[in-house]
Amino acid sequence: MEKDNQRLNQAFFAVLCNIYTRNAIFSYLPLFVLTTKSVNMISAHFETVDEAKEVKMRSVRGRYDTVPSFRLTSQEQLQTGTIWSKKKIRVLSGFTATFRFQVTPVNGASGDGLAFVIQNAPNGNRTYHKSDGSSMGYAGIPNSVAIEFDTYEYGGDPNNNHISIQTKGKQPNDWRHQYSIGWGTPSTRIDNGAIHESIITYDTKSHPQPTITVSMNGEIIINNLKYDLGSIGLDNGTAFIGFSAATGYSAQFHRVLSCEILN
Ligand SMILES: *[C@@H]1O[C@H](CO)[C@@H](O)[C@H](O)[C@H]1NC(C)=O
Ligand SMILES: *[C@@H]1O[C@H](CO)[C@@H](O)[C@H](O)[C@H]1NC(C)=O
Repeated sequence: MEKDNQRLNQAFFAVLCNIYTRNAIFSYLPLFVLTTKSVNMISAHFETVDEAKEVKMRSVRGRYDTVPSFRLTSQEQLQTGTIWSKKKIRVLSGFTATFRFQVTPVNGASGDGLAFVIQNAPNGNRTYHKSDGSSMGYAGIPNSVAIEFDTYEYGGDPNNNHISIQTKGKQPNDWRHQYSIGWGTPSTRIDNGAIHESIITYDTKSHPQPTITVSMNGEIIINNLKYDLGSIGLDNGTAFIGFSAATGYSAQFHRVLSCEILN
């Protein structure tokens, strides 16, 4: 089963996450010209063999397309899924991550949510913390910061539809709201089954201190929060990036459909 997972996951990584690195020589040209593209491999852990699947769904342009996606969890209870870049990615000098995701609940309460995670944990791209429910798969991971899309109110959460930046620096991360360093509530529900696009910007140039900005569907949820990524303990400015998600006794599909990092 482990082996099947590897095969399936690796078949899909290439479409999941493209890394674009700024080429200084061409920096005066428009973005799509100045970037050099290198596809970054992803290694992943899922609980069941069919977590990484091609699924048929409506694309943002309104056509029915077969969209390759990573399904981090199924709609079963107590699932945890994570997916990481194969290599460490330069993050300290600033980056923009753009990704599309979809959270599809079953009837009634839905839980728990997914997270975009930057981590430099000792286990690297093999990091996996089976941590269901509110932990969303990132709790317990040291040297990490998680931007969670939380659809279940628990542990002091402000509501059941918020985006929060969770970190304990070099310590194992914690899902409880007291470890939020910034949060906000999007006007649309995260778990409405629609495809959402989020943009996370780590801006090291516009302000005296680096800041992080998070938007969902063009709406800014966390705006220029002062935050130094170096506080998680990076490796010469680099870290693994990826996604995690979990279900608790309430469950839902968590899918990531695309991901681009510009650094
Ligand atoms: C994980 O990362 C290490 C070093 O950072 C690399 O050598 C290895 O190939 C990666 N493993 C996978 C499965 O991608
Ligand atoms: C650290 O990062 C800088 C900037 O990218 C690079 O020039 C240097 O070679 C790196 N040092 C090591 C030891 O990897």
